[in-house]
Amino acid sequence: MDTNATDLLLTTTRAVRRRLDLERPVPRELIEECLRIAIQAPTGGNSQGWRWVVVTDADVRLKLAELYRSQAGILEQMRKRAKDNGDQATERVYQSAIDFAEVLHKVPVLLIPCIQGRVNNASNPEVAGLYGSIIPAAWSFMLAARSRGLGTVWTSIHLAKEKEAAELLGIPDDFIQVALIPVAYTKGIDFKPAKRTPVEEVTYWDHWGDN
Ligand SMILES: Cc1cc2nc3c(=O)[nH]c(=O)nc-3n(C[C@H](O)[C@H](O)[C@H](O)COP(=O)(O)O)c2cc1C
Repeated sequence: MDTNATDLLLTTTRAVRRRLDLERPVPRELIEECLRIAIQAPTGGNSQGWRWVVVTDADVRLKLAELYRSQAGILEQMRKRAKDNGDQATERVYQSAIDFAEVLHKVPVLLIPCIQGRVNNASNPEVAGLYGSIIPAAWSFMLAARSRGLGTVWTSIHLAKEKEAAELLGIPDDFIQVALIPVAYTKGIDFKPAKRTPVEEVTYWDHWGDN
């Protein structure tokens, strides 16, 4: 395996908002190719309870984007909190998210990963089993997309309007939506690893707190 290539992919798959090409159509076959790769991901008991709703219709994208924008106040609250804390990097992230909300309907593909089940009053193993059976696949989709010149960003704020989105898209009650992932070609393909808390500080060996 070419670890240079895989490490580059794994370390540079960023949340892309400002550099999405909103004009260039994304072929259906490319989305299908990425999804075919994504569904190689693991699921609890090999349940494969996923469904993938790929939204390309302009009217439906607009309605979804309106649901998303109805929740954008939370992004502004978070931006303000970061500003008050003097955390400029986080403030920039939220400003980018706020600006992105305004153009969301123009992104050519909006992908909603869904999974059968619901977590009301569920135990931690049940919650972990449910989300753990869709998030690895959704992330694989994002990696496969990146390696084909597509950018994505994991978003979640529309989930506060999950019911309305389900009605819009015809998603049945026994499936939950876990995210809304906009997909478009990127302007340029050079993305960089992000600054993270050093791994030594967040890794413990044999006992909590022991580095
Ligand atoms: C669970 C989760 C929820 C997120 N929700 C949103 C969102 O609603 N809107 C948005 O623009 N970005 C959202 N993001 C993207 C994060 O802001 C982004 O991943 C983070 O700032 C790190 O940037 P990076 O992915 O480029 O390293 C979300 C990411 C995750 C993992």
